[in-house]
Amino acid sequence: MEKQKLIRKFDKQSAMYEQNTRKRMLGEWRKKLLQGVSGNVLEIAVGAGANFPFYDMDHMRLTAVDFSPMMLQRARRIAEELHIEVDLAESDIETLDFPPDSFDCIVSTLSLCGYDDPAKVLRKMRKWSKPDGRIYLMEHGLGNNPFLKSAQRLVNPVARRMSGCHWNRDIERLVLDSGLRVERMERYWGGMIHLIWARA
Ligand SMILES: C[S@@+](CC[C@H](N)C(=O)[O-])C[C@H]1O[C@@H](n2cnc3c(N)ncnc32)[C@H](O)[C@@H]1O
Repeated sequence: MEKQKLIRKFDKQSAMYEQNTRKRMLGEWRKKLLQGVSGNVLEIAVGAGANFPFYDMDHMRLTAVDFSPMMLQRARRIAEELHIEVDLAESDIETLDFPPDSFDCIVSTLSLCGYDDPAKVLRKMRKWSKPDGRIYLMEHGLGNNPFLKSAQRLVNPVARRMSGCHWNRDIERLVLDSGLRVERMERYWGGMIHLIWARA
């Protein structure tokens, strides 16, 4: 899908993402995932700031990127309400670059579904991370059950067109192939939701 069209699609969904942020949607998993995030932290595809309530800001400095201006506007509002200091940047992660070894931790939640080339983004995370830096992922993708997988593959073109998200990504395979060292992985909702703690 053409990038400007995809950005507009996420812009339109930004009000819903802000509401979900206020409702702390998927909060238990976010809380579990983000314990220990500290130091110089990058969050990619930050959306409306759904992870902000779960950060321990006394021990971190946060940079967050998204290509949707409307999502960023809402993330800025949430950050102000929570008194969180964050450097927000509008950029396409797939073309963005940071110097190697820039961050202690990189966070991505529900973002690998959106990119044209998620493997490339995982390689970027590895590069931007300090040696042995920590990568925190909460991603949705193919479940465990063959029938569920077939259904996900079947509806994928419609899901992509309507929401901008792919529903058919093999997250476990993508992460294992990326060169990141997976330390812990938990899967929920029939294996569709992946919580992954990895090292660069
Ligand atoms: C499903 S939402 C998830 C938002 C947030 N991370 C969360 O956990 O609620 C996907 C987000 O990725 C952003 N996104 C998708 N592709 C992107 C890209 N190539 N560069 C930057 N942001 C992107 C969208 O604008 C949207 O905010």
